Amino acid sequence: MLIAREIDSKDIELVLDYWYSRSQSQLKEMGADLNRMPSRFEFKKKLDLQIHTDYQLKKEFTCIWLKKGEAIGHNNITNISFGNHAFMHLHIWDIKNRRSGLGLQLLQKSIPIFFKKFDLQTLYCEPFSKNPAPNNTLKKLGFTFEKKYITIPGIINFEQEVNRWNLTKYNYALKKWI
Ligand SMILES: CC(C)(COP(=O)(O)OP(=O)(O)OC[C@H]1O[C@@H](n2cnc3c(N)ncnc32)[C@H](O)[C@@H]1OP(=O)(O)O)[C@@H](O)C(=O)NCCC(=O)NCCS
Repeated sequence: MLIAREIDSKDIELVLDYWYSRSQSQLKEMGADLNRMPSRFEFKKKLDLQIHTDYQLKKEFTCIWLKKGEAIGHNNITNISFGNHAFMHLHIWDIKNRRSGLGLQLLQKSIPIFFKKFDLQTLYCEPFSKNPAPNNTLKKLGFTFEKKYITIPGIINFEQEVNRWNLTKYNYALKKWI
C-alpha cells in the first residue's frame, strides 16, 4: 500500500536523518555539496516554518512517501509561486527501496497534491544531468524535456548542468493516473 501525504511535525527528524547521513559522494551524485548544507538546526527550523505557513504563502512544501505505513522517502517543491509554478525534488531514502517502481508510483500520488494545493500552471524539475534516476523517472512519468543548462539549482547545490523538465497543467490533466 503506497501513500503520499503532507509532511507533519513528527516526520521532520526522518527527513533530517536522510540528509545528514548522506556521504559526500552520495550528495555529489545528486548535485549537492556537503559544505553547502545548512546546519541540522537551521534545516529543522526551515521545515518547521514550512509546516506552519499558510498554503498561499508557502515557498516550500513536502510530501512524505509511505510504503505499508512506513515513511520511505519525500517529494518536495520549492520556489513555489502560488497559482503559477514550483520546482520539484524527489528522494527515496534507502537504496533497497529504489529502482523497483516505487518512485514512479509515489510521484503519481504526490504530483496531484502539488497541482491541487498550489493551483499550479507548471511543475518543473531540474535534476543534475548526470543523475539518471530522476531523469529517467521524469521521462517515464510524461514530463516534457525543455532544456539543458548550467545553473546552481538550489542552496545545497554546486554549479552544474541540469535538465529542465516540465509538466504543464494541460499535460497533467491528460494523465491517466490522476
Ligand atoms: C529518483 C528516485 C526517487 C526514483 O525512484 P525509483 O523508485 O528508484 O524509480 P523507479 O524504479 O520508479 O524507476 C523509474 C524509471 O527510472 C529508471 N531508473 C531509476 N533509477 C535509475 C538509475 N539509478 N539508473 C538508471 N535508470 C534508473 C527506471 O529504470 C525506470 O525506467 P524504466 O521503467 O524505463 O526502466 C530514486 O531513485 C531516488 O531517490 N534516488 C536517489 C535520490 C536522487 O537522486 N534524487 C534526485 C535528486 S534531483
